[in-house]
Amino acid sequence: MHNKPQLHLGSEADTALLARAFARQLRVGDVLLLNGGLAMGKTCFVNAAAAELGAEGVSSPTYTIANIYPAKAFSLLHVDAYRLRGEADFIDLGLENELEHGVAFIEWGAALEGVFEHYVSLDFSPDPARETARFVAFSSFGARGGALLKLALQAYREAQP
Ligand SMILES: Nc1ncnc2c1ncn2[C@@H]1O[C@H](COP(=O)(O)OP(=O)(O)O)[C@@H](O)[C@H]1O
Ligand SMILES: [Mg+2]
Repeated sequence: MHNKPQLHLGSEADTALLARAFARQLRVGDVLLLNGGLAMGKTCFVNAAAAELGAEGVSSPTYTIANIYPAKAFSLLHVDAYRLRGEADFIDLGLENELEHGVAFIEWGAALEGVFEHYVSLDFSPDPARETARFVAFSSFGARGGALLKLALQAYREAQP
């Protein structure tokens, strides 16, 4: 087992900076699983990543379960898995097919880990000391998941003001 990298996100701007760092490293087939409670910044992260990738009008898929946006290089699949009853629902909806020509951002994605050959998982948690700060812990699966995580963390460090 590798140690879990962790970051402190001091503000919403840091969450957006992290999202843009990931966005620039993404390629077709990549999967980001976003976990953590309500209002931890999962949708905020997806919005910032989508903007970096040239997708517009992104909103929370709380009611729709899944939204698909065209972006510059590939499509974005944005899923809220909260009301899915696990992997079978995801597969029944045909959503994994979207990875053939796009990337996926999956809020509440922890229950879907078994569907994917590779992913990076981000687990957001509150900073009890500050309402506008968060902690985020990372884990990855598969060779591409590990490579993506490494590249994105490096890009985030380099983007620090
Ligand atoms: N460091 C931070 N990162 C992300 N969002 C933050 C942060 N601090 C405060 N917020 C606020 O928390 C809320 C996060 O909402 P949202 O992204 O919809 O969360 P989730 O999708 O996890 O439920 C927003 O209102 C945002 O302004
Ligand atoms: Mg959300």
